[in-house]
This record gives sequence, structure tokens and C-alpha cells, in this order.
Amino acid sequence: MRIDKLLANMGYGSRKEVKTLLKKGIVLQNDTVIKNSSTHVDPEKDTIKVFGEVVEYKEYVYLMMNKPPGYVSATEDNHDNTVIDLLEAEDSIFQPFPVGRLDKDTEGLLLITNDGKLAHQLLSPKKNIGKTYFAHIQGRVTEDDITQFKEGVTLDDGYVTKPAQLNILTRGEISEIEVTITEGKFHQIKRMFEAVGKKVVYLKRLSMGTLQLDSDLLVGEYRELTDSEYSYLTSIHNG
Ligand code: URA
Repeated sequence: MRIDKLLANMGYGSRKEVKTLLKKGIVLQNDTVIKNSSTHVDPEKDTIKVFGEVVEYKEYVYLMMNKPPGYVSATEDNHDNTVIDLLEAEDSIFQPFPVGRLDKDTEGLLLITNDGKLAHQLLSPKKNIGKTYFAHIQGRVTEDDITQFKEGVTLDDGYVTKPAQLNILTRGEISEIEVTITEGKFHQIKRMFEAVGKKVVYLKRLSMGTLQLDSDLLVGEYRELTDSEYSYLTSIHNG
């Protein structure tokens, strides 16, 4: 890979700005100064330093966000802020995108990556990955709702949902529940509750498979996946 492309990808500026950096003689390839922006380097084998600091090259970024309400799960939007607007420049430089969608008013676990293949696999219904949500429901959720969710409910468009596991945490005017689904139809949880005559008033995604939302992440915060979280996702990808 050309050194100017590598440095531009890693956020050291535009190709033109990177060329200026190179001319200044502050970029080293294995401790030898390189000034020519078309020099080829091997990011796997060569040690590249800028201002004496080693450049840790990576092609992909994998982020876990605790999505806040009020942001859309998209890379661009004409009206609303997007989850990508919440990223630091050092992360948005990778041009990542959210894996699937949480509604604008939904909170919680959202994966953001620029690894298109992995994203595609994770969204595949064939992978049967359970997604667990916590919700506040207007109305008393009943044992009958649990049975109906287990058997599949009919949505407003006639679609019958796959079995879902509903747990009631507290019952009342507003019930607190957890629900696990293996699909990702548009507004699925909200429409499933509508199908049994109830309304979701708060929704937060807690997990995708065994990947859990980090409870240390405040709403709107994000972090890179740990190695073991990443390995889990790639095991789904390859499995
Ligand atoms: N189901 C919904 O209704 N909304 C979401 O954001 C996610 C699942």
C-alpha cells in the first residue's frame, strides 16, 4: 500500500497534507526516513512512525455504542442527527456505518463498523442471532402475551413473527419486560406489542447474541470492541 494512502486512511490528513508531512522528513519506515509519497509499505510487516510515534494501522473499526434517543441509525440524514455524528474524527475517518437499525427513539446496543461482510452476516436471518430488548409497556402484560409471543403474533402487514421469548419483570400500568427476538423486521418490537393491544413507551437493546451492552457506557458513549467480543462476532460470521 502507498504510504500516502495509509497515512490518509489513518487520519493524518488529506493525501496533499500527507505529502507535506512526508517532505518534512518526519515519516519513518523501519527507522529510515521516507519522503516520497508513492513509496510502497507493508502495514503488516513495516514499522511506520510519524513524529516518532508508531502508526498502528488497521483497516476496520468495530465500535459498540450505547445509542441515545433522538439520533437516527444512518450515516447521513437531512433532518436528524445520526449516530455517526457522535463519533470522534479518529473513528469517523474509517467511514463506518451502523449494523442494522434502532429506531430514532430506541436506546442501547448498536454496533458500528466499516466491515461490510461482517455486518451482512450479522444481519442475516439465517444466523438466528437473538436480540434482547428491555422495554416499558403501557398496559398490563400477561401470561397470555408470553404464550402469544412464543407462538408468533401476526403483525399489521399479516407477517407472523418467529417465536419470541417474553419475560415480565414488573406488572402495572406500565409493565417492565425483556423480550428476545431473532429477526429484525421494521419496528418489530413495537408492532409485536401493538398486535397484542399494547404500546411500547421505552425501548432499549441490551444484547445481540452474547454481545452485551457495556453497562459502563453512558447513553451516547461508545468504545471499541474488546478482542473477545470481536472474536465472538467473527465466530458467528464464520459459523
Ligand atoms: N424493535 C422496534 O420496534 N424498534 C427498534 O428500534 C428495535 C426493535
